Amino acid sequence: MSSSPICVGGTCFALPKSIFTIQFLSMDPFTITRLPELRFGAGTLIQLPRILEERSLQAIALILGGRSFKQSNPYDRLIEGLKKARIRHKEFSVTGEPSPDSVDSIVTDLKAEKDQFPVDGVVAIGGGSVIDTGKAVSALYTMEGSVQDYLEGVGTKKPAGTRLALIAVPTTSGTGAEATKNAVISRIGPSGFKKSLRHDRYVPDIALLDPELTIPCPPEVTAASGLDAITQLLEAYTCTKANPFTDGLALKALELAGKGFLAAYRDGKNLEARSQMAYAAYISGVCLAQAGLGVVHGIASPLGGMFPIPHGVVCGTLVVSATRFTVSRAMRIDDPSENSVLKRFARAGIALSGKDAGSDNGNAALLINTLDRFSTETHMPALRALGLKESDLTVIASKTEAKYHPIPLTVQDIETILKDRY
Ligand SMILES: [Fe+2]
Repeated sequence: MSSSPICVGGTCFALPKSIFTIQFLSMDPFTITRLPELRFGAGTLIQLPRILEERSLQAIALILGGRSFKQSNPYDRLIEGLKKARIRHKEFSVTGEPSPDSVDSIVTDLKAEKDQFPVDGVVAIGGGSVIDTGKAVSALYTMEGSVQDYLEGVGTKKPAGTRLALIAVPTTSGTGAEATKNAVISRIGPSGFKKSLRHDRYVPDIALLDPELTIPCPPEVTAASGLDAITQLLEAYTCTKANPFTDGLALKALELAGKGFLAAYRDGKNLEARSQMAYAAYISGVCLAQAGLGVVHGIASPLGGMFPIPHGVVCGTLVVSATRFTVSRAMRIDDPSENSVLKRFARAGIALSGKDAGSDNGNAALLINTLDRFSTETHMPALRALGLKESDLTVIASKTEAKYHPIPLTVQDIETILKDRY
């Protein structure tokens, strides 16, 4: 039997080749947990007051992002609709990624007014950070203490899974937070963290996708968030927890993202492209919540805790080198099955590029070339330009977890991926 070396901490071992042959037994047992009700379509925001009425919600916390939505006609129409439906609301504006302090401060405010203004729902309208804030607020309103107490790997308490009614309305097409069961909370700094508040019941009740709301999103945010969605789809489709339910969804969404990504970046008013990306982002959230992710998101966790770099930029800059590395390893795996790692990357290549090179190697190369084209045209900065020092790469690699990545990776492999993009 031929063997391939595996290196850990500078020591290399010869292992049988078969250890690298990870088969995706696609009909292995799997579980699909709850999904949000989906309301999709241009102009759908107008339905929101009626949706709240149908659910007998009377007072909501309205969590919004920066100024652009508040200065728009849809915002004015929404406020008018809430007044007509006699639904009271209290507004909060959030900027940047949610931190324990920013979440706790909103919850403290709401709890202080509980007698005069008992909130029964949260509506979050904004990017992934706004939706994650809404998710955390809806949960913490029903629990005691700080959100930090309940964060995975940070706190000591387990979230109960109770929360207020929650409606997520994304204004960017990226994280798919409107479909996921976790809120990512960060504290930035040398001993910073980026950890999740997670529970199956934190999946929003409704994801309202109105692609018109993403039209004001500037090109650089469109690019970073779009590449986050594409990375999530690719990682969910190729990870070891992929399943038939998410496979079908992910491939179709990759196809739509392949058509819509550059078109939405080049012309923000292209509603067809905005719709394709809004749907792809939502599905990327469904797939990551129901399957898993790979090494790019594994790296994004420690990197995002150490440096205040937007999550989508981290994904957008690393997805090419991570895919190139993984595909080059996959080409050396002797697995003739239909579910081999290489075939999965090849099928993703056909979906994203909209072409068929006629061979697995050719289609996997199409995938890498398409990702490279997307990243290059949208000027994704290299890690050096983002302020990282070379010594940071070792620290980040040592803190990276990638347990569902389709091939086993050593710390050195992860450092190689990072150096390739330095
Ligand atoms: Fe992501």
